[in-house]
Amino acid sequence: MAEENFTVTPWEVSGAVDYDKLIRQFGTSRLDKALRERLIKLSGGDEPHHMLRRDFFFSHRDLGPVLDDAEKGKGFFLYTGRGPSKAMHIGHLVPLIFTKWLQDRFKANLYIEITDDEKFLHKREYEWKEIQKSADDNILDIIAVGFDPERTFIFKDSEYVRNVYPLLMRTARKITGSTAKAVFGFDDSTNIGMQFYPAYQVVPTFFENKRCLIPAAIDQDPYWRIQRDIAEGLGYHKTSAIHCKFLPPLQGISGKMSSSAGQETAILLTDDEKTVKSKISKYAFSGGQPTVEEHRKLGGNPDIDVPYQWLSILFEPDDSKLKTIHDDYRAGKLLTGELKMILIERINAFLRGHREKRKKAEGEVERFMRTGKLAAQMWEKTYE
Ligand code: TYM
Repeated sequence: MAEENFTVTPWEVSGAVDYDKLIRQFGTSRLDKALRERLIKLSGGDEPHHMLRRDFFFSHRDLGPVLDDAEKGKGFFLYTGRGPSKAMHIGHLVPLIFTKWLQDRFKANLYIEITDDEKFLHKREYEWKEIQKSADDNILDIIAVGFDPERTFIFKDSEYVRNVYPLLMRTARKITGSTAKAVFGFDDSTNIGMQFYPAYQVVPTFFENKRCLIPAAIDQDPYWRIQRDIAEGLGYHKTSAIHCKFLPPLQGISGKMSSSAGQETAILLTDDEKTVKSKISKYAFSGGQPTVEEHRKLGGNPDIDVPYQWLSILFEPDDSKLKTIHDDYRAGKLLTGELKMILIERINAFLRGHREKRKKAEGEVERFMRTGKLAAQMWEKTYE
């Protein structure tokens, strides 16, 4: 979807995204104060997630009916996913961390789709085997986020396809080539596998007869538009979604952090402490002034400062601490190098914890993918 100076599709985000324009362009709704407060109240009221408080989850489709069902005790289920690639970056964790919060608060079942097929079809340079290795690696990072193993089913498309094939066919039969072209911009050079793939990303929204809520960045929304056109004709609910903005790349607040844009634009979950330090020191775009003297006098601009933005989105959940950093930076009391050091320490502490949890996750893969309560049920299930 191109509009003047930015582009957002499931495979490409570039330019300075104007999120208000995007809401209009995609036809989603702003997550307004009233709805946000209703979600917070139903989630237990205390400790609303900072990504919600700070408007990082900013848009939605039909969140209201999901909350109605939660209130009535009917419940809903969660669905999100990942297109496996060599190393995940911290941006990929954003929707996952929020999904975990929702699962904890609402005790909802969660389905995580690992789209090995999509990656293979989209990235000509990858071999099937390599993608399987990436998928297995990425699954460890996902488990490390801390989902409930009895209520979460993680599946690779290529494996679970044997159970869902009839449902996948029913879904595919409803999506015409012209819809896929119009929504995703496919053309005659797009391979037919890619043209078919969107049907599979829609299928998990039909896993239960309850309403489905999808937490993801807004780049995935085009799939939900298709789902909402066909769901009721197949006897299911239109899906709901809650959208976040993009964690920006190191180079500046435009676009999104992306694995394909080059290693120096992202912090990978595999980066060691030295690498984190050097990437942030060298590449993180700063809203500070060119010299210390000017900075002390004029102050920095946190709105365009990548280290400040990353603290706000991921690494500083405490509002009062964030405010102090914000105010000190604006006032020129906190220097660019000092702000970068705060971020480096936070990221390294986070990644240390993540590495430990990832190690433990090795022993949990079977539960999430086969033997946990939800996973076992899903392998028993076939679809008409
Ligand atoms: P993928 O692997 O490109 O991205 C995985 C998830 O991460 C989000 N994301 C980001 N969020 C914040 N900041 C960023 N810089 C950033 N980069 C990526 C994406 O929005 C996504 O939520 N086709 C999908 C896999 C998929 C899926 C789903 C995703 C299948 N079913 C259902 C979400 C929901 C893909 O390739 O995602």
